[in-house]
Amino acid sequence: MPAVGGIGPGRGKEYPGNLTPFVTVTCIVAAMGGLIFGYDIGISGGVTTMSPFLRKFFRKVWEKKEADKSTNQYCQYDSQTLTMFTSSLYLAALLASLVASTVTRELGRKLSMLFGGLLFFAGALINGFAKAVWMLIVGRILLGFGVGFANQSVPLYLSEMAPYRYRGALNIGFQLSITVGILMANVLNYFFAKIKGGWGWRLSLGGAMVPALIITVGSLVLPNTPNSMIERGQTEKAREELKKIRGVDDVEEEFRDLVAASDASKLVDHPWGNLLQRKYRPHLTMAILIPFFQQLTGINVIMFYAPVLFNTIGFGNDASLMSAVITGIVNVAATVVSIYGVDKWGRRFLFLEGGVQMLICQAIVAACIGAKFGINGNPGDLPKWYAIVVVLFICSYVAGFAWSWGPLGWLVPSEIFPLEIRSAAQSINVSVNMIFTFLVAQVFLAMLCHMKFGLFLFFAFFVVLMSIFVYYFLPETKGIPIEEMNQVWKSHWYWSRFVEDLDYPNGGMEMKKGGQGPKNV
Ligand code: BGC
Repeated sequence: MPAVGGIGPGRGKEYPGNLTPFVTVTCIVAAMGGLIFGYDIGISGGVTTMSPFLRKFFRKVWEKKEADKSTNQYCQYDSQTLTMFTSSLYLAALLASLVASTVTRELGRKLSMLFGGLLFFAGALINGFAKAVWMLIVGRILLGFGVGFANQSVPLYLSEMAPYRYRGALNIGFQLSITVGILMANVLNYFFAKIKGGWGWRLSLGGAMVPALIITVGSLVLPNTPNSMIERGQTEKAREELKKIRGVDDVEEEFRDLVAASDASKLVDHPWGNLLQRKYRPHLTMAILIPFFQQLTGINVIMFYAPVLFNTIGFGNDASLMSAVITGIVNVAATVVSIYGVDKWGRRFLFLEGGVQMLICQAIVAACIGAKFGINGNPGDLPKWYAIVVVLFICSYVAGFAWSWGPLGWLVPSEIFPLEIRSAAQSINVSVNMIFTFLVAQVFLAMLCHMKFGLFLFFAFFVVLMSIFVYYFLPETKGIPIEEMNQVWKSHWYWSRFVEDLDYPNGGMEMKKGGQGPKNV
């Protein structure tokens, strides 16, 4: 029986090419697309603990919070309108990522990034000047459209640009900029909350214009990927581009494989319907389950609501915002570890190690909060050591996520889809991610109110499930060229039954030799 993890690294093709300064700079600029997403994730939790903001837009929550000091802490922020403020963005992102699929395929990855930047800019502007709740929501929806376009196109762009040996590291640049965006937001919230006059929240929300400008300008100067040029008929230009990106003249083999993949994709009339074919079952499963599991780690409970959560478990306002900054720093640092390790240790190792680490931390945090707050949510005096233990284990949980499911949740889907379904499948990945980001954001405060510390056990249960899933069903994709990826399914103990009849035994090579696409498309 083939190994659980699929084939070992290093089999298959080796395309010549270096990590050129050109491709490095290009990928860094493109990865900036993650900033807008990260900034959003980090900003709303802090803003919603700022009293002047609550007083202006969510008066009921503010009154409850002011009046409620000694009663059930678990429920003080439970308000559907308040959560709608955070989560409306993710519904909009879901819709936009579906539209972005066509733009990315037909007009190129760059244009999707440009749309992403512009929409995001408009949203930030409206939010910064908001006078009523509806302006906040409209702004958040525009930001969401921006995120949908950027998240659909940037990971694909990075995986296509990168030489395959460095694909993991370069792709994780996207996640790194998400985490930097979150950290920037946390730090700014911390300082803006102190502004006298209580208008700091305007700077927090309007500040999103800065990352929006970076990705807008970035998308104007970036080249398109050779894959996308070929897909849109610019074959000769693509060959020259590939030479420039790889820094060598001998790009023929890779180039021919890209053309073959593009020929196959042209035979496909309906990229969406196509996804339902039996041979794409492994891809579809991953496009749905990876983002689903990524969100069910519960990470966004920390990312969105760290200040609210720390506030709930007894920290003062300032200490809560500070703790969010600390978790933000850990998030960035652990992502760097992943960049270092992903192409060395492989994806599976990181997934499994991260899973175990998150599980242990969730259990300990649940126990700590349960012990002090019990069922009625009334903690009495909280000793300092208690606060330190909770923050420590939350940080370790964040680190576990940040070198596993965080980056890999974007990397693995972007590298496993064959070109003919890549754009559509990536949209599914983004939409599933956004649906569950939305749900976690929308129900978390209500869940905290009802499930109390058990909330952490709820997510821990899913961490167990996802680790089992990775162990048995996710093949290792480290060191395998994208257009060769089919072999990982073919040699997998379970997935081979879906792809074994496929007409391209070398992952697309047959088409090139025979000059035709697979028969059963
Ligand atoms: C996830 C986000 C999460 C972030 C945390 C991303 O990969 O998609 O939902 O907030 O990581 O760093």
